[in-house]
Amino acid sequence: MPADITLSEQLAAIEAAIATLKAADTPDALEATRLSLLGRKGLFADLGPQLARLDPTERPTMGKRVNMLRQQAEALVAERQATLSAGATRQSGKSIFDPTLPGRPPVSAVGRLHPFTKTLERLLEIFCSMGFEVVEGPEIETEYYNFEALNLGADHPARDSQDSFYLDVEGGLLLRTQTSPVQLRAMESRKPPLMVVAPGRVFRRDAFTARHSPVFHQIEGLMIDKGLTFAHLKGVLAMVARELYGADRKIRMRPDYFPFTEPSGDLAIDCAVCQGIGCRVCSHSGWVELLGAGMVHPQVLRNGGIDPAVYTGFAFGMGIDRLAMMASGINDIRLLTENDVRFLDQF
Ligand code: PHE
Repeated sequence: MPADITLSEQLAAIEAAIATLKAADTPDALEATRLSLLGRKGLFADLGPQLARLDPTERPTMGKRVNMLRQQAEALVAERQATLSAGATRQSGKSIFDPTLPGRPPVSAVGRLHPFTKTLERLLEIFCSMGFEVVEGPEIETEYYNFEALNLGADHPARDSQDSFYLDVEGGLLLRTQTSPVQLRAMESRKPPLMVVAPGRVFRRDAFTARHSPVFHQIEGLMIDKGLTFAHLKGVLAMVARELYGADRKIRMRPDYFPFTEPSGDLAIDCAVCQGIGCRVCSHSGWVELLGAGMVHPQVLRNGGIDPAVYTGFAFGMGIDRLAMMASGINDIRLLTENDVRFLDQF
């Protein structure tokens, strides 16, 4: 703009252009006016040198006025653009929604299965493929099912090792300390041959440590038929371990004691967290005990209404939380229930 044009003439030109903005009735007209005002070579840009030449005492007032005009112009442009484009959409009869645009992907809120659930589903898949039926029992049990029917009489010392949560009601109800009571419930409601697995929550008065939790999960297995032996038990367990952890995981079976199985054993695998070297998860032994098992005690069969002279059976109970930890290399059982998304996001 020529140098002899005064500041007030420039401001008048700006005001005129703003009036043109209001009247712009096509997107092209609007864009032309917008550039003449706010563009790099527009009227506002031209003001710069003029303002610089002003007397310092006048500069703030004039600066303010220019700023207000600029804001007014910008607001008007935005408003006219919105009105014109809405009109254009209406005229062409199209909706603003364009189904051909790629969608916005949900960023962080994608859910996934908990490592525990994955392990449980995998286990059930394996057992079902072998012909086991999935059953469930109550979490609040009677002393009869949780203890007595399993040869754990009132004075049995093994009851101490399962320090329990009792309900404050008549009749000796407690939170089940194991899934083994489901063995009895299954025997009562079915006739052999039977093959069941019973997953569920169990409760013991344990401290919360890396390997122990007062609430954990077990899956109970029970198979009863004519002529079943310990070899069948071992075969089933070895197959489950192989399916879960692959053929190179080592399996160790040792004698153990449970009042409701005879003979009894426990099964351990070499620790998948430290590859058997020794770490916190395996108490530096290199082995993680996964389950207790054995041939169902004749008295337990009798308690379930099954004649031990005709039928034999085996049972096992494994800790699912331990299995999940092994499967995912998790070294602290507490992580499974803390629901920390930073932890869960890793699976
Ligand atoms: N119920 C036993 C426990 O909780 C495990 C077990 C189940 C052992 C079935 C033998 C047979 O330790």
